[in-house]
Amino acid sequence: MSAKADPRALAAQALASVVAGQSLRAASDSSAAKIHDLRDRALLSALLHEGARWWLRFDVALDAMLERPLRERDADIRALLVLGLVQLQIMGMSDYAAVAATVEATRALRKSSFAGLVNALLRRWLREREARTAQLDREAATRTAHPRWLIEKLQFDWPEQAESILAANNAPAPLWLRVNRRRVARADFVAQLHAAGIGCQLPQAEPDALVLDASRDVTALPGYAQGFFSVQDGAAQQAAILLDLHAGQRVLDACAAPGGKSAHILETADVELTALDSDARRLPRLRENLARLGLTADVRTGDAAVPHDWWDGKPFDRILLDAPCSATGIIRRQPDVKLHRRADDIPALVATQARLLDALWPLLGRGGRLVYATCSVLADENASQIAAFVQRHPDARAVAAPLAWHAAGAGRQNLPGESGMDGFFYALVDKHN
Ligand SMILES: C[S@@+](CC[C@H](N)C(=O)[O-])C[C@H]1O[C@@H](n2cnc3c(N)ncnc32)[C@H](O)[C@@H]1O
Repeated sequence: MSAKADPRALAAQALASVVAGQSLRAASDSSAAKIHDLRDRALLSALLHEGARWWLRFDVALDAMLERPLRERDADIRALLVLGLVQLQIMGMSDYAAVAATVEATRALRKSSFAGLVNALLRRWLREREARTAQLDREAATRTAHPRWLIEKLQFDWPEQAESILAANNAPAPLWLRVNRRRVARADFVAQLHAAGIGCQLPQAEPDALVLDASRDVTALPGYAQGFFSVQDGAAQQAAILLDLHAGQRVLDACAAPGGKSAHILETADVELTALDSDARRLPRLRENLARLGLTADVRTGDAAVPHDWWDGKPFDRILLDAPCSATGIIRRQPDVKLHRRADDIPALVATQARLLDALWPLLGRGGRLVYATCSVLADENASQIAAFVQRHPDARAVAAPLAWHAAGAGRQNLPGESGMDGFFYALVDKHN
């Protein structure tokens, strides 16, 4: 089998490039395109996600077992070995099948000279796994496969919940959908899913949401092409509700791409929406999403921190700032955050968020509302950010969001996995009349 079609070999190459800095999404998309068999594609995706999720545990395990370090040009073999351990320890594959297929993948990588090493190392793991697992479990970083700085920050910000956050980050996330109420009633859509043999749950608190019983290719679900639904976590579905939308309002989604929340805003009320993003490469996807759902917005490329370049001078009634953030609330969906995010990134993100808040505030009309959102669980980006903002702006009044989540300063925080949802923070800030 060539590397082209061997899911383990492709996953190893992709995982090595994620470790070197490529985003998991980009690596996953480009390697999936090389595989046609749907089951192999699903295996590739599972290997890649679990490999990134558990890298910081099994990479250390390898270091302890390798007699000589692998060369840099053999980063794909290191990734293949980590994937071997992930198959044995995390994915529940039979020992024999996992070892045999991983050894075979060295051939697909055209590195069959490593077949003996891969075979010997995985077999040694099987013989010694109890002692080696106990050793890895002694340190929080290798037990939970998280970087130390993040563990410490979570322990500081969420001392009682840190362990459950770390555990939730290591569990795959359920598949949430948002039903496009302009195209179909939720009950009718559920009936169509049931008729197709697809089970789902209906969360009580999210009026447009449903959670599928199992992950699947959403483009093959009934009504995809007709725009009946979008993929969106339940926590993200709160934004449009918290904006308190009414027909005729002028609304700004300041960091809009790929448009999940923009679309929900337009599905919820007949508003005039400006959907802005500074990254022009992300806007075609936003436009495609709106077109599929039958929605229209004024889509613009622009820096939200420099309104002079794109604002027509008319105040907005509502502003959503879904700010660029550490993504520490969605590690279960994007486990490469563990590998790519550094402690030093946080002050820079906090400064950007503050700059965006300050630049957007003058665009909000009196009596208007700004909703600040992040998919972070860190206080610096959330509670402290909003406390400092309200301090700087005497006409800003933080209002408690009607969410049964953790109180986080003036905002509300869902932690990863709670109510099946992502880690998310919202703060509502109203402008005095
Ligand atoms: C969290 S994502 C937004 C997700 C989006 N709201 C959704 O629900 O689909 C943050 C977005 O902010 C954009 N962004 C970052 N800095 C920006 C800036 N200065 N002005 C406008 N957009 C910015 C990024 O390109 C990215 O698309």
